Amino acid sequence: MQAELDKVYQKARSEIEQAKNIPELLNLKSKYIGKKSLLNKLMKQISSLPKEERPEFGKKLNIAKNKIQELITIRENQIQEIQYKNELKSEAIDVTMPGRKRKIGNLHPITLVMQEIEDIFISMGFDVVEGPDIEDEFHNFDALNTPPDHPARNLSDTFYLDNDILLRTQTSTVQIRTMEKYQPPIKIISPGSCYRNENDATHSPMFHQVEALVVDEGINFVDLRDILNDFVKKMFGDRIQTRFRPHFFPFTEPSAEMDISCVKCFGKGCNLCKGTGWLEMGGAGMVDPNVFEMLKIDPEKYTGYAFGLGIDRIAMVKYNIPDMRMLFENDIRFLKQF
Ligand code: PHE
Repeated sequence: MQAELDKVYQKARSEIEQAKNIPELLNLKSKYIGKKSLLNKLMKQISSLPKEERPEFGKKLNIAKNKIQELITIRENQIQEIQYKNELKSEAIDVTMPGRKRKIGNLHPITLVMQEIEDIFISMGFDVVEGPDIEDEFHNFDALNTPPDHPARNLSDTFYLDNDILLRTQTSTVQIRTMEKYQPPIKIISPGSCYRNENDATHSPMFHQVEALVVDEGINFVDLRDILNDFVKKMFGDRIQTRFRPHFFPFTEPSAEMDISCVKCFGKGCNLCKGTGWLEMGGAGMVDPNVFEMLKIDPEKYTGYAFGLGIDRIAMVKYNIPDMRMLFENDIRFLKQF
């Protein structure tokens, strides 16, 4: 029986030392020292020993049982330590890893073009000023020398919010607001939104213009032509030409519409310029003396020019966008391309 006890103890020891987890260890505990364990079986066989050997063997059994319990506790601590270390390892944060990149979006093509236009005019000495989108008839029409029966005032062109209150149809309102506040010399541009009741592939009910106003002594049409030429070459490249066609605006005299040679075919004629070789860019002219008089600027002393360019059209030409409405549909697949 002594030999058997030694065998059982050795086996228990090696199995306990190799136990991989707590459930395995609990099984070994009941296998070796639990109620139905091997040691208990030996305990029950004590009675088969000669009387004088029984106390000695009982003692040995108890010692073996305590030792096995001790081995189990040691192994339990080891297993817990290993599990804890593994946990630490798997939950560890590598602070040297690069962060995940967040999509931060990008600027709208209109904003991009506006910024580029502003940069060019700022480099030519212009100040950038802003005016309100909601205007009165005085700034949008009266002060711009537009007669009361002018068709542009009509409800079918202009969005009226109230009797005298409207969404500005042009950034020329900022000419008036600037001349109300400042005497010449004036050299400003004013980019912003405008609103007209029209909607097709080349017109949107909300669109963008950049207005320019230069007033000083001795300003003439050549200055106007030169500044527009410079701007166009900076914006679209040296090969681009400008052309001025006589036109009418109530607040400029003489007035012109400005075209640039087609940025795609350079004047040969293509689908972008509809075969004409030219693209319309906006209106321009010398400030009408009537406007100066209304704003208490001496028309004998000062002259000035003004122009208004279509920003949406410039963006369409620059980025090859076929339909103006795409600019305002907010389709992410479209906007992501800029
Ligand atoms: N405001 C005019 C328009 O919207 C353009 C323009 C601006 C013309 C300045 C002349 C001078 O059509």
